Amino acid sequence: MDVLILGGTALARTLAGLLVEQGLDVTTSLAGRTKAPRAIPGAVRIGGFDGPDGLAAWLVENRPGCVVNAVHPFAAAMSANAAAACRRAGTALARLEAPSWRALPASADWTWVADHDEAVRAVRRLPDPVLLTIGRQETAHYLPLGARDITHRVIDAPDETLPAGWTLLTRRGPFSHEDERALMADPAHTVATLVTKDSGGARPDPKLLVADEIGAAVIMISRPPAPDYGDRVSTPQQALGWVLARLNPTG
Ligand SMILES: NC(=O)c1ccc[n+]([C@@H]2O[C@H](COP(=O)([O-])OP(=O)(O)OC[C@H]3O[C@@H](n4cnc5c(N)ncnc54)[C@H](OP(=O)(O)O)[C@@H]3O)[C@@H](O)[C@H]2O)c1
Repeated sequence: MDVLILGGTALARTLAGLLVEQGLDVTTSLAGRTKAPRAIPGAVRIGGFDGPDGLAAWLVENRPGCVVNAVHPFAAAMSANAAAACRRAGTALARLEAPSWRALPASADWTWVADHDEAVRAVRRLPDPVLLTIGRQETAHYLPLGARDITHRVIDAPDETLPAGWTLLTRRGPFSHEDERALMADPAHTVATLVTKDSGGARPDPKLLVADEIGAAVIMISRPPAPDYGDRVSTPQQALGWVLARLNPTG
């Protein structure tokens, strides 16, 4: 195997396509959280590795030439495991992560919070309607908000029962500017508060542009700290260059 991609993101899927086009033997690993993941070029394995020890043992057994950790910026446990396991197994590691939205000028207008509990405290002071785009796994943090006009947009429905007044929207992105305007700027139900997390990207996400257009408050959850082991790249094209340099060091 040439490359193991730790995936579950659009960047990881794009990188898998670029590497397969080069004729490389690529395996993408998914946690298995999404019921029907999108098709990914190359081989796919699904499920955890059983912590850093399990991943280190997997690396020794399967001997990928290198690993690209392209999990979501908020998948902090997997990133920590990848750093620890690659260090132990002596496998080259790159972190592929979209740039934080902190670099965008509009970010100065947002309320940045450290975590979901701080986001909940901020929402208590802000008006409805609220749009939550924080992922199904984080639902439990927001349930204490109780009966409010909250739209919870997720890919798959959460396990929890939602309070009265909440609307569950099961939709998979990416969402266009028109999609977001239809949802957020409906004159009969204009979003007043958007809660989201710093998934990042070179451009602002359409929901952030629409929030700006309609004057909605934005609560932005900051990224967890990243491990300091491995190289860093921010686009699939940069990751491709990194992989080719690792696999053909003299090339
Ligand atoms: N967190 C988010 O906001 C978010 C958003 C979009 C997509 N995703 C994707 O959803 C997946 C899970 O995210 P999470 O936040 O639950 O992760 P996490 O909290 O960092 O990881 C929890 C455990 O899930 C397993 N895992 C995570 N990513 C994996 C992968 N790519 N391949 C194999 N096992 C993986 C690992 O289990 P073991 O210890 O057993 O190895 C890991 O210890 C990731 O692939 C991530 O890219 C997450």
